[in-house]
Amino acid sequence: MGQRHSGAPAIMTGTPANTSPARGLHVITWGCQMNVYDSARMGDVLRPLGYQPVATPDAADMIILNTCHIRDKAAEKVFSELGRLRKIKEARETAGQQTIIAVAGCVAQAEGQEILARAPYVDIVLGPQTYHRLPEMVARAARAGGAVIETDFPAEQKFDFLPEAEAPQTAGNYTAFLTIQEGCDKFCSFCVVPYTRGAESSRPVLSVLAEARRMVESGVKDISLLGQNVNAYHGEGPDGSTWGLAQLAYELAKLPGLSRIRYMTSHPRDMDDALIAAHRDLPQLMPFLHLPVQAGSDRILRAMNRGHTADEYRDIVRRLREARPDLALSSDFIVGHPGETDEDFEATMQLVRDVGFALAYSFKYSPRPGTPAAGAGMQVPEDVKDARLQALQALLREQQDAFNATLVGKTIPVLFTSEGRKPGQIAGRSPWLQPVHVSGPKHLIGKELPVRIVERLTNSLSGVLEEECVSA
Ligand code: 5AD
Ligand code: SF4
Repeated sequence: MGQRHSGAPAIMTGTPANTSPARGLHVITWGCQMNVYDSARMGDVLRPLGYQPVATPDAADMIILNTCHIRDKAAEKVFSELGRLRKIKEARETAGQQTIIAVAGCVAQAEGQEILARAPYVDIVLGPQTYHRLPEMVARAARAGGAVIETDFPAEQKFDFLPEAEAPQTAGNYTAFLTIQEGCDKFCSFCVVPYTRGAESSRPVLSVLAEARRMVESGVKDISLLGQNVNAYHGEGPDGSTWGLAQLAYELAKLPGLSRIRYMTSHPRDMDDALIAAHRDLPQLMPFLHLPVQAGSDRILRAMNRGHTADEYRDIVRRLREARPDLALSSDFIVGHPGETDEDFEATMQLVRDVGFALAYSFKYSPRPGTPAAGAGMQVPEDVKDARLQALQALLREQQDAFNATLVGKTIPVLFTSEGRKPGQIAGRSPWLQPVHVSGPKHLIGKELPVRIVERLTNSLSGVLEEECVSA
């Protein structure tokens, strides 16, 4: 299913350091939340070697590009970024400073050899399954003076070899990501994930619980469980039995102080009765679910190898809403999959009208080399894709506005996580992930409080704290 991909460049990880670290590390992250999590973990494995985050690449002894391959010209973006980094590396070299450049993530996995051929100044190429070997790769790169490439799927599980995520990683954060599952066996026709992230695998329950406990102890109140197919989670339980996501959620809900649990990204086929029941039983499970459907025509869903029909999706949504009436949905859509006719596209529009989405991400189909759809006939012309995307996005925007409008005048719980943009403001998230701003004192940051929503802005809500909270 993949994660939500912004396609935008990069989250720059790094703190403006006044101190000069032993070695500077600059990580540039593209793509999904899974990559954000992985970037943090790469920082963890490199910390014992003396690497500390720095804010800019020219101050870095090591630069990691953590890449995404899901759509559009991913590799080209990486090569253009590498061109920029090459200049930095050369300038540093002239000043007598070495720089290790590493390319990680899904582009590395898919196009490792091509990267080394086109960008010979890259020192390390590593796939998503080999981060735990980074220290050894850094040592080899320094020794050999040649490039190191690790893009196989090792027999050992990287999670068994990664250091425990330390509390400082999440200190001062009230929300956190926690990867519990990786990879995908679904092989949707259009998607590279099964090839770049490999087969589905789940972390053992105790390891997930231990990490969640550490996060909560450091102040985290809202945990998003991550996985390419997160609801296909099947982790080894403490008693040797296999636990599903529902069972894990019930256990996590026992952690005192953890008031919000989310998970993404889910596949409709794995939305089982136990998980639907968990939405009924656990107030901690947030009433907001990212459940991509991709298309609304059964013919296209079959061509996509999705393994469900449009009506089966409608039925899952109906049962979820029965279990949790305030549940809102988000989804991903692809327009212009090979073979998609006007009639097929209309079926997608109809599904959107029937379900009503609070949020959605929609994309033009982009052929990924090596995937079945890329080689299929009946590719849809670009101008047709453009027109369909515009029509779909207009409808989805309307629905998003309508959903946000339903919250105006209501009182909802907001978890405050930071200061707001304007002085005297604090900002947080609603259960449905919208940013919410209120006027309020800073000491309320970290608390979850009732807010009456007064206005909806383009991408956020503004509200007022309920009287008793202001003096709290
Ligand atoms: N073309 C367009 N969109 C894609 N996605 C995945 N592969 C492709 C592709 N080849 C979208 C899907 C997925 C999201 C993360 O990215 O909608 O759910
Ligand atoms: Fe999701 Fe399908 Fe890609 Fe698997 S193959 S990550 S289910 S879109």
